Amino acid sequence: MRDKVVIIGGKGTAVVIAEQIYDAHIRYNMDVEVLGFAFDDPAYVGGINGWPVLCGTREVYDKFKKDNSVKFIYSLYRSDILKERIELRDSLQIPIERYYSFIHPSVYVAKSARIGVANVILANCAINCNVVMGDFNTMNTNSLIGHDTVIGSNNFIAAHTCIGSGLKIGNGNFTGLNSSLRNLVQVGDFNLIGMASNVVKNIGNNTKVVGNPAKELIK
Ligand SMILES: CC(C)(COP(=O)(O)OP(=O)(O)OC[C@H]1O[C@@H](n2cnc3c(N)ncnc32)[C@H](O)[C@@H]1OP(=O)(O)O)[C@@H](O)C(=O)NCCC(=O)NCCS
Repeated sequence: MRDKVVIIGGKGTAVVIAEQIYDAHIRYNMDVEVLGFAFDDPAYVGGINGWPVLCGTREVYDKFKKDNSVKFIYSLYRSDILKERIELRDSLQIPIERYYSFIHPSVYVAKSARIGVANVILANCAINCNVVMGDFNTMNTNSLIGHDTVIGSNNFIAAHTCIGSGLKIGNGNFTGLNSSLRNLVQVGDFNLIGMASNVVKNIGNNTKVVGNPAKELIK
């Protein structure tokens, strides 16, 4: 049965995901289609990149609850308010089994890697041997997770992030574009790693770090 996907969101990565699903269908024959978006911004009622806006975010589950072939992808994440956006997702009370796990067909996943559910892993990513990944992570285009790294849930990994080997990464972290994380480093929860940062030391929780070597940004 063909999977039908409704994307909750409508800007930025939400649209990237829609077009990568389209690419997976057209070029790799994946049996999946995007039905449209659930989005609240009235400026987008006319549609987004050729897909309709089907309803608002709060109505989406009720609207498609009865049709089990419809799955959801949540993409309303924002680096500065990631925790609030995760809470918003949870407040929609969509059962986790109704979320779609999308792995673009160009992604390399090692046979020994263990990946949870509701993850979105975009084109040309690589997940190496013995990686353990939780749920609801977004891994954007061309990113790497090195061997033996353990990563929790609800992390947003921007494009070209390079995560080394043997790291332990918690939940709700944002890694900026082109950031690098040294092997064996430990990263707690809800941190923000600025773009192009080079993380060489452990990071606790709720910290914003930038630069090379990455240091806490205090404002
Ligand atoms: C880290 C970040 C969140 C900081 O944003 P901010 O809180 O608005 O901070 P500002 O832009 O005011 O910058 C504060 C200071 O940090 C510096 N800075 C900001 N981002 C930096 C970065 N990535 N690396 C090094 N220095 C950085 C600024 O130059 C500024 O320094 P100054 O006080 O000496 O002038 C942001 O710059 C960033 O990297 N965002 C991630 C972008 C990204 O990857 N998006 C992915 C989209 S999918």
